[in-house]
Amino acid sequence: MDKLAIQGGAALRGEVRISGAKNAALPLMCAALLTRDPLRLTNVPHLRDVSTMVRLLAQMGVAATLDDRGALALDASGLGNPVAPYDLVKTMRASILVLGPLVARHGEARVSLPGGCAIGLRPVDQHLKGLTAMGAEIAVEHGYIHAKAKRLKGARIFMDLVTVTGTENLMMAAALAEGTTVLENAAREPEVVDLANCLAAMGARVTGAGSDVIVIEGVERLSGAAHRIMPDRIETGTFLVAAAATGGEVRLTGTDGTYLEAVLEKLREAGAELAEEPGTISIAMRGRPRSVNLRTAPYPAFPTDMQAQFMALDAVAEGTGVITETIFENRFMHAIELQRLGANIETSGNTAVVKGVAKLDGATVMATDLRASASLVVAGLVAQGETVVDRIYHLDRGYEAIEEKLSKLGARIRRVR
Ligand code: EPU
Repeated sequence: MDKLAIQGGAALRGEVRISGAKNAALPLMCAALLTRDPLRLTNVPHLRDVSTMVRLLAQMGVAATLDDRGALALDASGLGNPVAPYDLVKTMRASILVLGPLVARHGEARVSLPGGCAIGLRPVDQHLKGLTAMGAEIAVEHGYIHAKAKRLKGARIFMDLVTVTGTENLMMAAALAEGTTVLENAAREPEVVDLANCLAAMGARVTGAGSDVIVIEGVERLSGAAHRIMPDRIETGTFLVAAAATGGEVRLTGTDGTYLEAVLEKLREAGAELAEEPGTISIAMRGRPRSVNLRTAPYPAFPTDMQAQFMALDAVAEGTGVITETIFENRFMHAIELQRLGANIETSGNTAVVKGVAKLDGATVMATDLRASASLVVAGLVAQGETVVDRIYHLDRGYEAIEEKLSKLGARIRRVR
């Protein structure tokens, strides 16, 4: 299993290009199931989750060609086997995103019920509730969701809580339903808007994406389209935090600050200087960062996917920071690993109190999820001596060429195979 070995202490300097967003790419790839025409996506990141989604779609009969410039052509004209097997769903929960499109276009789907995962229980009851309201018959048998519908019908759906993939699944299903669907308490994440824009280019009638009420007037068929995937706001935020933690000066291109206001605000509070121009964000951190308090919540509030990286920043900052996680019930697994590097963190329930220390010491650490691994990389870049981050297959799921990009910024980091 690959590891990353990091010699800490080098301030990050230079320029790096941000990739397309994982959490936009995955639902967009599933949108290809809604049409017999080809869907062409560009700015597709080279990630393990993207390859897993290609495999999942391929075994359903979707033809996929990915070139090395990040263009992915998907053709679901041969869709035949509407099944998402346990083996793939267990490695990538976003597989649930095939459910809505499959029922809508194929009339049937069998999708393995995702289990709990490293960050929380993560049920999919809201996805099922919405599809049931649209007239799908749903049974859970032998660990699989079996959903059927001749043609889905538009419905008014009030989601009990804000769910990103739940909103995306129902928006895709509603695009081909008969009549109008109103999704209330919808997720406002930029990735939902990216998907809505692509659906609109395919001929869907969607309004309100980016607000908490999305209205979808169903159409009989959707066509192919070409769509450029939005920049990855979490990769952007992770590089900004890495620059801040190391006292560096970095310019990120191919990205957009408007997607991450809450994160930029916290970085400013920590003492970073930020400059934004269209398509780029620059950061400079002079001196030691100051601790920040933060509370995760659905967009536009502070994203849970940046919580772990900020815990690493607070760990080396001046002062004490209080971090509250409100989205997932078990997303502090990195705290105990950061402590192995010398961080002073006390967690209780969904709150972590982080007292900044003057230095961290390198050690071998490992993480159980993607963003936790990213926080250990940030900590390793600051720690004295060598930090070895184990189980980096988590990082490969969501960060394209992370060690190459960090090396380009002057980090002493290498992959150990
Ligand atoms: N929830 C339910 N019932 C549902 C759906 C969700 O109770 O039917 C709960 C979840 O258990 C959680 C909360 O609602 O406590 C929010 O979960 P959400 O459904 O929004 O999460 P998700 O759609 O499964 C996406 C991202 C995650 C990101 C979350 C929150 C994708 C593919 N994944 O997950 O990304 O953390 O939204 O913003 O878009 C990551 O990239 O590292 C990652 C985990």
